[in-house]
Amino acid sequence: MTAGSGRGVDMRTRVGTVALSNPVLTASGTAGRAAELGAYVELADLGAVVVKSLSAEPWPGNPAPRVHPTPAGMINSVGLQGPGIQSWLADDLPALVERGATVVASIWGRSVDEFARAAGMLAGARGVVAVEVNVSCPNVEDRSRMFAHSPEATAAAVDAAGRAGLPRWVKLSPNVPDLVGIAGAAIGAGAEALVLVNTVLGMAIDPRRRAYRLGSGAAGGGLSGPAIRPIAVRAVHDCRAAFPTIGIVGVGGIARGVDAAEMLVAGADAVEVGTATFADPRAPAVVLRQLHRWCARHRVRSVRDLVGSVHEGQPVVPLAAEHGVGAGVPGAGGVEPGAVGAGVPGAGGVEPGPIRDGRGAGASPPEAAPVARIDEPDAQAEDTVLLARVRATLDAIDQRVALQAEQVGHLADAMAALAAALGSERTGGDTGGGAGRDRRGAADGPGQAVERPI
Ligand SMILES: Cc1cc2nc3c(=O)[nH]c(=O)nc-3n(C[C@H](O)[C@H](O)[C@H](O)COP(=O)(O)O)c2cc1C
Repeated sequence: MTAGSGRGVDMRTRVGTVALSNPVLTASGTAGRAAELGAYVELADLGAVVVKSLSAEPWPGNPAPRVHPTPAGMINSVGLQGPGIQSWLADDLPALVERGATVVASIWGRSVDEFARAAGMLAGARGVVAVEVNVSCPNVEDRSRMFAHSPEATAAAVDAAGRAGLPRWVKLSPNVPDLVGIAGAAIGAGAEALVLVNTVLGMAIDPRRRAYRLGSGAAGGGLSGPAIRPIAVRAVHDCRAAFPTIGIVGVGGIARGVDAAEMLVAGADAVEVGTATFADPRAPAVVLRQLHRWCARHRVRSVRDLVGSVHEGQPVVPLAAEHGVGAGVPGAGGVEPGAVGAGVPGAGGVEPGPIRDGRGAGASPPEAAPVARIDEPDAQAEDTVLLARVRATLDAIDQRVALQAEQVGHLADAMAALAAALGSERTGGDTGGGAGRDRRGAADGPGQAVERPI
């Protein structure tokens, strides 16, 4: 399937002022240098390729090991290793542009000045449609506290990223008590889209070695994958409720089309696929294909119809005001929370500025259409299929447990027989079944039933 319209589903979307052919993007840092993903996925068919976060200068990252699998995802401490922007512009960007990819450049820095330098180096870069400002990095000017954990530092980094002269998307951390407040600070400083979320702080320890599993040691790592999807969905949901017209990109644990649909319904204009790519490098393309099929099956004419649709009919909750959004933020000229339910850009509320085409001129924003009702019987049928699958899995587990119990029984019998044989050897008696321990006890003296290793 090529992106865009097909089988009656309009897959076009937009994030802030950037028009995209479809809503499935790669997540920063999970697709290598991105061009190698081209061996598995037609990069031009994705909504966009978000590249590994880049700093102004090359950066070595953390010592190995840098990734470790977890029950529902992985934990990493790659530490933002990168070649530096100059090298990326010369060696990596041209290959992406040649493949027709819509490129979003992610940047990071250890100080506001480093953000400004990184952004300045991207100014005028051919083929880059937006800059994703990754604020999940230590701020050396604030006791190495993460930029993303402070509204002021986040705003300062976003402001500095303005040097790129590109639309600014800010990628926020979920490890904060007031995500909406920090999002408001970023918007006030010029971000036209929120990317929600980066990894969740975590740690993995090997109890046998009494040692950290990641080379970053006591600094721990970031958890990603399906385990964090509900966290990301909630972040998107709450920010969409607070900022009905801002661009939102949802990221965290998306591995299937239905995961992407959930994120769109929560309020995302687009999604990024990260950890799933480690299991299957084709994951972003698979998610796109499945989302397309999901929309067709549920008679959704345009993916835009899904965006924020869970908020329809919800009471207006002035979250942004409640969180003091805009207050105390340089340049925060009052980010107005709009009415919840008018959250779909184009469906009322504040209209974003002119649309930039993610891939060449002329792509018009999808027209506002009434939100399609998700077909109840279909949804129920889907639930039934899922439940049947869960039941089948549980049955298989039951059978395996029963088999293992049987095997343990055989093993116990064999051990008892062996014990009996050893006992009779020692006493020179017969090897009658079940008498081993008694006989050993007898050999050790009357009344002393001593346990011995067999
Ligand atoms: C190995 C690895 C490296 C990552 N590197 C970056 C990075 O350089 N910049 C960034 O903003 N996010 C980075 N992330 C976070 C992802 O982009 C994404 O936000 C997070 O993993 C949640 O999405 P997922 O569950 O689909 O992976 C990285 C994640 C992983 C697993």
